[in-house]
Amino acid sequence: MNYTKFHNGNSMPSVGLGVFRVENNDVAKDAVKHAIQSGYRSIDAAFIYGNEVKVGEGIAEGIKAANITREDLFITSKIWIDDYGKDNVQKAYEKSVNLLGLDYLDLYLMHWPGTDLDLLLNTWEGMENLYNLQLVKNIGVSNFNIDHLEILINQANVKPVLNQVEFHPYLTQTELRNYLSKHNIKMESWSPLMNAEILQDETVNRIAKEINKSPAQVIIRWNIDHDVITIPKSVTPSRIEENFEVFNFSLNDDQIKRLDALNENKRIGPNPAEFNG
Ligand SMILES: NC(=O)c1ccc[n+]([C@@H]2O[C@H](COP(=O)([O-])OP(=O)(O)OC[C@H]3O[C@@H](n4cnc5c(N)ncnc54)[C@H](OP(=O)(O)O)[C@@H]3O)[C@@H](O)[C@H]2O)c1
Repeated sequence: MNYTKFHNGNSMPSVGLGVFRVENNDVAKDAVKHAIQSGYRSIDAAFIYGNEVKVGEGIAEGIKAANITREDLFITSKIWIDDYGKDNVQKAYEKSVNLLGLDYLDLYLMHWPGTDLDLLLNTWEGMENLYNLQLVKNIGVSNFNIDHLEILINQANVKPVLNQVEFHPYLTQTELRNYLSKHNIKMESWSPLMNAEILQDETVNRIAKEINKSPAQVIIRWNIDHDVITIPKSVTPSRIEENFEVFNFSLNDDQIKRLDALNENKRIGPNPAEFNG
């Protein structure tokens, strides 16, 4: 498995499991457990997904089944916009930690920038407090564009370790990727499979045939080859396994270029400059 190193010296697995749109029942628990048994060490949760209890049960069962310890895992959650504000951050963090049945998180993210930039900065101060108190191992952001990051970096005492954004071959985020790289902030991709839409693409399928891999494996490998951390979601055991079998091959430059050329700046999620929860 690959790990990606942050500017603060910590690191996280380059491929993890996403759990958005998974109900808070045994489907969530079993998917997380199966992922951990299959070798995954990173789980991407969020308070707003409403499934932290069952995700937490899956983590506990996965630790036992794989005979590993909590410290072997990298667990992310995210503060939702309703909980923003410096003085609310620790309470929101403890809410997620408790729902997940954990003692700490490896990464806590601001889920969206929101449209109130003063509130954004004020909330980041709360995130910094959490980090400085060593309650959380790493802090980061999600859905921040360059404008948001400029504002944040100008004021921040602690730089985010990563920015989790929509990223797939129809939305290659080149400008944002270059900006993040310049500032030594990692990019993490959400909806890397474009919620399965990109798996139908002709070029993706042609490349998959060329290298005898599945379309999903091509996309996940393309993320790794671009130094983008990724968290494909699946509740299907065979797909969970398939999406993790991506460390024993790579794409050649021509294949990477052909995937990059699919960019249409097409989003399936909201525009971060406008979304406010
Ligand atoms: N920060 C944010 O604002 C934000 C927003 C969206 C998502 N996220 C995070 O990113 C994660 C991933 O994004 P996502 O859940 O939107 O979508 P995704 O990972 O792009 O796609 C998931 C879909 O692809 C299917 N799939 C997975 N592996 C497959 C394979 N090997 N072959 C065929 N189909 C496959 C899944 O089906 P089955 O499950 O039925 O197998 C599911 O329908 C989320 O779960 C969440 O953790 C974050």
